[in-house]
Amino acid sequence: MTRRERYAEVRARLESLLEGEDDWIAALSTVVCELHAAFDYYDWTGFYRVTAPELLVVGPYQGGHGCLRIPFSRGVCGAAARTRRTQRVDDVSLFPDHIACSSTTRSEIVVPVVSPAGSVLAVLDVDSDSLAAFDEVDEAELERISVDLASRFPEGASARSLARSRERPPIG
Ligand code: SME
Repeated sequence: MTRRERYAEVRARLESLLEGEDDWIAALSTVVCELHAAFDYYDWTGFYRVTAPELLVVGPYQGGHGCLRIPFSRGVCGAAARTRRTQRVDDVSLFPDHIACSSTTRSEIVVPVVSPAGSVLAVLDVDSDSLAAFDEVDEAELERISVDLASRFPEGASARSLARSRERPPIG
């Protein structure tokens, strides 16, 4: 199966899993789970959410330890949030100010989640223990998933979805 075909499968699963879902964290957790399980070169998969001006705080992730807080001024994640542009890094040892949450990471891709109004809601960060693990297919497909997320949650964890999730009766 090609990478593009595997991403198409992931997107189809997300379409059904996220149908009617209005909780931001539930949606982010599901995206991370599906991506991390689908690709063997994904060694760390997670979101950093914008929780204050110029501040990224770790959200749902899979893999080893993730750094908790990253200012927009630091790292690959900060660069993606600051520039609103995907950062695809073939060799993290050559990226100035790369933040090594894990000593085994060799390459990385970070995609900003930008709302339709243009504000950065989060970044999707994927690390690999292999050099140059990510290509233009990963970039295009992860950007597609981020655009879809931003259209479903134009304000991220908005007060509205927070209020609604509180209204929802507990399961069971
Ligand atoms: N390497 C990232 C930090 C997060 S870890 O990869 C989970 C960076 O440089 O921003």
